[in-house]
Amino acid sequence: MGRITVPASKRKTPAANPEAEWFGFRRVNPDEKAGLVRDVFASVAGNYDVMNDLMSGGLHRLWKDTLVRKMNPKPGQTLLDVAGGTGDIALRCYRRTAGRANIIICDINPAMLAAGKAKAIDHGVMSGLTWVTGNAEALPFPDRSVDTYSIAFGLRNVTHIDQALREAARVLRPGGRFFCMEFSPGVTPALKPLYETYCLNVLPVLGQFVAKDRNAYQYLAESILKFPPQAQLAARMEKAGLERAKWTNLTGGIAVIHEGWRL
Ligand SMILES: C[S@@+](CC[C@H](N)C(=O)[O-])C[C@H]1O[C@@H](n2cnc3c(N)ncnc32)[C@H](O)[C@@H]1O
Repeated sequence: MGRITVPASKRKTPAANPEAEWFGFRRVNPDEKAGLVRDVFASVAGNYDVMNDLMSGGLHRLWKDTLVRKMNPKPGQTLLDVAGGTGDIALRCYRRTAGRANIIICDINPAMLAAGKAKAIDHGVMSGLTWVTGNAEALPFPDRSVDTYSIAFGLRNVTHIDQALREAARVLRPGGRFFCMEFSPGVTPALKPLYETYCLNVLPVLGQFVAKDRNAYQYLAESILKFPPQAQLAARMEKAGLERAKWTNLTGGIAVIHEGWRL
């Protein structure tokens, strides 16, 4: 992946959305970022689930269980899991509602969705999930059509976070709930040095040997450290119309669940 630098005078990025011009620690043209992110996930799709277990020591499963418990999906509801990838959140919602909710998985990357569909079939889930290719910044769904919106480990990959938050508010029904789970740069100070060393030195090596793509995991690690801290994201949610924003830190703030309401 080459370095693309854009003169400040030519950047379209509004200062309010500083991460748009960062691809991990590299400065890029915001117009190119979605394509670069798509390439990363196209490259890792086949190994994505194995790498998740390896990188987190299986913790991502517990974090996802916690997220879905908080979402508390109900039969009959429409649940939209954006950046849903290989369907981990959707499958948990499917089980919790005994297949009686309308569950939509939307992701920009068809390779991740294909891996998810194959996994759902392996788990014996042949219907009840709808897989849609789409961008979190321009969701292909009508206004006020969704009861619960979730995005797990996806928002840090989106070019214009504020636009994705506005889209979440647009598709949610009044009374609908928003959930975002992310890795956070705001880990407790005691864990920070170890955490940063792990992200920047260990993850890329795991990526190199297991997924055969060191650069992809270098990007993923860097993007974690670039994501807005908890209070900042909560303020941006409120501004986008996702009210009563609050968050819960998991495992010393390594992961965080943000919640908000569309009122
Ligand atoms: C780290 S994976 C998370 C997948 C899944 N949610 C999980 O928790 O295992 C991030 C996902 O975000 C998707 N993604 C990145 N940018 C996106 C965008 N702008 N809109 C929708 N999906 C996006 C990627 O294709 C990838 O599947």
